[in-house]
Amino acid sequence: MEALVCRKLGDPMQDPNNSGSPLVLDKNHPIPELYSPTAVRVRVKATSLNYANYLQIQGSYQEKPPLPFIPGSDYSGIVDAIGTAVSLFKVGDSVCSFTALGSFAQFIVADETELFRVPEGCDLVAAGSLPVAFGTSHVGLVHRARLTTGQVLLVLGAAGGVGLAAVQIGKVCGAVVIAVARGFEKVQYLKSMGVDHVVDSANQNITQSVKDFLKSRKLKGVDILYDPVGGEQTKETLRLLNWGANILIIGFASGKVPVIPANIALVKNWTVHGLYWGSYKIHRPGVLEDSVRELLSWLAKGLITVHISHTYSMSEAGLAFSAIKERKAVGKVMIIADGGEKTGRSKL
Ligand SMILES: NC(=O)c1ccc[n+]([C@@H]2O[C@H](COP(=O)([O-])OP(=O)(O)OC[C@H]3O[C@@H](n4cnc5c(N)ncnc54)[C@H](OP(=O)(O)O)[C@@H]3O)[C@@H](O)[C@H]2O)c1
Repeated sequence: MEALVCRKLGDPMQDPNNSGSPLVLDKNHPIPELYSPTAVRVRVKATSLNYANYLQIQGSYQEKPPLPFIPGSDYSGIVDAIGTAVSLFKVGDSVCSFTALGSFAQFIVADETELFRVPEGCDLVAAGSLPVAFGTSHVGLVHRARLTTGQVLLVLGAAGGVGLAAVQIGKVCGAVVIAVARGFEKVQYLKSMGVDHVVDSANQNITQSVKDFLKSRKLKGVDILYDPVGGEQTKETLRLLNWGANILIIGFASGKVPVIPANIALVKNWTVHGLYWGSYKIHRPGVLEDSVRELLSWLAKGLITVHISHTYSMSEAGLAFSAIKERKAVGKVMIIADGGEKTGRSKL
């Protein structure tokens, strides 16, 4: 089978057909065997690129697997083979899931308990991008911050993978959603999603723009800050938070870890949530599984949509990583693993 193998750490924005690249396209990688009676082999249709995959290939992610490894986290596909004791799935079923490693390949094996059935009518490629981005935002907003109707949610990096998911989950929960993103295309897309207020960080002062909006709606401040960016944007937006606000620390796409002053958190009764979604699989697997099932049901009902701005074949992985790194993505970037056509183009 074809698989993208990380043989050394480095910049993944190179052509994986080039043997000097850290990520190499292996066209004869062994197809994984069913390792237990409850194992299921999935022929991968699509796998999503997350910022964490980029960091991991560079060696700057919190989890550092030994080399060589096949990266990849969430995916969708069709059941290809099942172990003798599998009772939940049959060959031909549409499924999606997530894994610590291994989805940048044409086949992957998982235990049947790790797979989710993709509801009838849901797009299989979209389902492959749902678990990490939407799962992180759903667990953060619904399980941790307990977002309720009428609360003000401020989303940074709002046109990115987790950001666009947070925006939509905020709308489903009835929040007043304020989004921060850079550039005309991203701003236009967020407006088309029905976001209450969008700030273009390329040419607007975030604090002033949000303050003006809050005043126009007679709102006091922000109740929940959803922050996958860090750095200056965190520092700036802390000034907008209400008494009793929740801060969701999701990531540091800016490359800078922000400081949240404990004295101000005390005076303002803020709750700061560090959220590492993947670790729920070990510590609270039930929360994570319920969350993905709820999201799939929302996808089936049309309450949420997955916007995929770029799709690539496996041999175009370098371009896929460039789309993420160069901040071109709106929503998700996907790799189509079933040998599908080389799409690679922006769908904006
Ligand atoms: N805690 C968890 O469990 C968890 C789960 C998933 C992801 N994450 C983290 O969340 C962050 C976002 O992930 P993602 O998959 O949504 O990434 P993404 O799709 O690339 O989105 C990141 C967004 O951050 C913004 N950004 C601001 N400064 C940036 C910079 N210097 N470089 C790149 N982007 C910058 C960009 O928006 P503008 O261009 O509009 O400013 C971009 O849309 C990452 O740090 C990732 O590791 C954490």
